[in-house]
Amino acid sequence: MRSQKMHAASLFVTVFIFTAKAVASESECQQYCSQLTNPCIGFYNVESNCDKAASLCLQDCIGENQGPKFTNLLHQQPDSLARNIICSSDEYVNNNNQCAKVPDGCISWDNQDIWLCPDGKYCKNNQQWLCSAGEYQKSEASRYYCSDAASCKTVPAGCYQNLTGQITYYACDEGHYCPNVAQAPQKCPLGTYQTPLSKRYYCNEGSSCKSVPAGCYQNKEAQIDYNSCPDGHYCPSPSGSPIICPEGTYQTPLNKRYYCNEGSSCKSVPSGCYQNQPGETTYYACPEGHFCPTASGNPIICAAGTYQTPLSKRYYCNEGENCKSVPSGCYQNETGQANYYACPEGHYCDVASEAPKICPAGTYQTKLSSRYYCNEGESCKSVPYGCYQNESGRVDYYACPEGHYCAVASEAPKKCPAGTYQNPLSKRYYCSEGASCDPVPSGCYQTQEGTTTYYGCPEGYCCKDPSKPPALCPSGSTSYKSDYCSDHKTCYQPGYGDVGCPGHE
Ligand SMILES: *[C@@H]1O[C@H](CO)[C@@H](O)[C@H](O)[C@H]1NC(C)=O
Ligand SMILES: *[C@@H]1O[C@H](CO)[C@@H](O)[C@H](O)[C@H]1NC(C)=O
Ligand SMILES: *[C@@H]1O[C@H](CO)[C@@H](O)[C@H](O)[C@H]1NC(C)=O
Repeated sequence: MRSQKMHAASLFVTVFIFTAKAVASESECQQYCSQLTNPCIGFYNVESNCDKAASLCLQDCIGENQGPKFTNLLHQQPDSLARNIICSSDEYVNNNNQCAKVPDGCISWDNQDIWLCPDGKYCKNNQQWLCSAGEYQKSEASRYYCSDAASCKTVPAGCYQNLTGQITYYACDEGHYCPNVAQAPQKCPLGTYQTPLSKRYYCNEGSSCKSVPAGCYQNKEAQIDYNSCPDGHYCPSPSGSPIICPEGTYQTPLNKRYYCNEGSSCKSVPSGCYQNQPGETTYYACPEGHFCPTASGNPIICAAGTYQTPLSKRYYCNEGENCKSVPSGCYQNETGQANYYACPEGHYCDVASEAPKICPAGTYQTKLSSRYYCNEGESCKSVPYGCYQNESGRVDYYACPEGHYCAVASEAPKKCPAGTYQNPLSKRYYCSEGASCDPVPSGCYQTQEGTTTYYGCPEGYCCKDPSKPPALCPSGSTSYKSDYCSDHKTCYQPGYGDVGCPGHE
């Protein structure tokens, strides 16, 4: 009889999910169930009129003390049948009225009827265990087969369930990550964020926090987004807090940045400009009299001998990168200047001159009024041979004076010695004519130093050595009466000839 009524295969019992009829009230059930002692299963043969109620209660007394509740009864023996078959502790009474093994995933509390394994648990060998944290069990309402609850399901990576005995799991919280499915979500640390829930589709999107991209930052925990690096700062990845740009660098202003990475580093101020404050978005032209190498914090003053192009003549930063050397023939004796000066009179100026150098004796410098370009003051001119300049620092030179010679341009003129003379200035056209004195021709004389002329030897005298005074010819001899010097080099005696010039040999 029974087999005709209840013929479904024991493993596929969905068609026999009964709503328990003549169910005891919950308080009735609780009252009955509280009398039970472990083990709960197999209690049907207890001498008690509570058998019927027991079959309708969930005996959740294994391991936990949750008290009774209703649960899904899968297969109930008809009331009319005598409960006289005693099955062992892992069996129930099947449709053929025989003992059969309780399938895994279901449970029999009384070894007669069979129930779905309760929520949050799994059932094996007619025993139940709580799902661990990191696991869950489908709710009874969504289970149809015993096998659905033969084990707990593992929570997928990136979601979590930190409690035991649960029927579901959760997406990792906003601003959090879930590296362990069995633990509560953890806050995303500084420099990271988590995609908002509304943009996540799969559990695994919550398994780690994202690093804030280089050039942006996040300085709070547990956030779902990040911020642009602020003006004057940079944000290397992954940034917790922005870092201020140091002097000599700057950051593009926020309104000119479109992507995070534009804020990942500060820019070096270009050569020739400077920024002497931290945390800035711009830079300035190097000031006058200064130079600014790449990434300049403070401008550096130009040294003496150098200068910087004035601001009004500079268009690009790099025009202020270096100081210029003062050109040769000009000078700059002060630091930090934007110009330079012509080398002064009587001086010369090498390239990059800090101080003019005086022209030495024997040289001179062109006057300022006749110089147009720096390089005209580059070096001193040599005094031409035969003229002189015996003082240093002069703008001109002199013809050698009358009666003098000037063999060394840097020395004072020297008197022509006796026996020599120098032409008067009026007869000289070139410096070189003053370089030496002319010898007085033999037969004429000049006994004075520093003269411009000489004298003829008188008749009766000889002047062989022109530097000595005329000598009287010995008696009986004479010199000619003549205007030619040569006629007075010696004395002559008639019929005898040349008798010499006494005292002149
Ligand atoms: C489980 O996680 C929640 C946060 O999601 C937390 O409030 C609760 O304290 C945690 N419970 C245990 C037992 O870890
Ligand atoms: C530079 O030269 C000028 C003019 O010759 C002079 O007035 C000034 O004192 C000098 N400065 C220095 C530092 O020598
Ligand atoms: C240069 O020569 C003049 C004479 O020509 C002289 O008076 C002067 O003292 C000399 N100066 C020097 C420095 O020798």
